[in-house]
Amino acid sequence: MDGGGIMLHRETRVRPISAEDPDAATLDEAAEIIRSGGLVAFATETVYGLGADATSAAAVNRIFEVKERPDFNPLIVHVADRAMARACAADWPGVAETLAERYWPGPLTIVVPRASTIPDAVTAGRASVAIRVPATLVARAIIDRAGVPIAAPSANRSGGVSPTRASHVLEDLGGRIDLILDCGPTTLGLESTVVDLTTRTPRILRPGPISQHELEHVLGTVHVREAAFDDCDAHPASPGQLAVHYAPRTRAVRAAASAELDDFAWPAKCALIVVGPYDELPDLPATLRRFDLPTPEEASRDLYEVLRDCDRLTLDLIVVLPPPDRPEWHAVRDRLRRATRPMVSGHD
Ligand code: TXA
Ligand code: MG
Repeated sequence: MDGGGIMLHRETRVRPISAEDPDAATLDEAAEIIRSGGLVAFATETVYGLGADATSAAAVNRIFEVKERPDFNPLIVHVADRAMARACAADWPGVAETLAERYWPGPLTIVVPRASTIPDAVTAGRASVAIRVPATLVARAIIDRAGVPIAAPSANRSGGVSPTRASHVLEDLGGRIDLILDCGPTTLGLESTVVDLTTRTPRILRPGPISQHELEHVLGTVHVREAAFDDCDAHPASPGQLAVHYAPRTRAVRAAASAELDDFAWPAKCALIVVGPYDELPDLPATLRRFDLPTPEEASRDLYEVLRDCDRLTLDLIVVLPPPDRPEWHAVRDRLRRATRPMVSGHD
């Protein structure tokens, strides 16, 4: 029953499925739900996505309802292959084909002019559409079987931390969606790089696993959108409203340098997340919970899980020591900037 407005009190089925050898009946069940306008969460290599038939405005609107997502923030369309991508685009430039050939299936989302088969609901009325081929077998098999492109944002409540496990999806969206396929933890753990090919010079709208450097090898100069807001969240009608994104529920601050921790008045219940290679830290209280994410790979993979773990501990504060300002840390730094506020105002 769709009890008024948000569809609460749906029965959410959770089905385990093998990532290497997915069960055909479970895939069929998922595809059938998608075809009939329902919502299915599944793992991609980045984070869990919440999928709906991208050609159905009604199905896509449900995604916005259950996530409580602002209607101006467009969704990524997931396709099984390049032919399906071209069918979602009004124009498929040579550079799109080159990028797709090189990085798909994989964590690169390409923004191109949209085809008329993609409803306004997906693109939030924009003339462009964001498309990618996810790397997991399960995701591509569902798209294949459903026979339609699948619009899928990260399967979390809007503004919160993206899910890297089925249990995270259940926490956020249980009772609101039809099916969660539990494919185990995601391998990359951070959302795809989003690159806009509709501007004269390609522009990274969201940094991710595929770096600016890698893209410049293929495309020549690539600009990076300044990270004041989450991509399209800088809606003129509500500037600043969503400046905090990917954020835990617990108050979270970031130090500019480990020296800021020197005389810090630690609250009683507090966690420190050390991201990057820190050799020396100031003396820390014995009661402090500490999490270390020393390499970009570990930080990408585990950051969201650590943030969710911190929320579960019901702390007064999360303090993050961010990684160095180096290219390999760009995507992690971007998410941390949005998930936290500066510890000392005016510093970054
Ligand atoms: O790794 C990922 O990309 C995951 C998995 C599930 O594929 N998906 C994901 O979706 O992170 P979501 O909705 O949480 O983020 C999509 C991002 C948003 O920041 C949105 O603003 C941007 O892509 N986006 C979508 N369509 C766009 C468009 N037409 N133009 C510019 N940005 C767009
Ligand atoms: Mg998201």
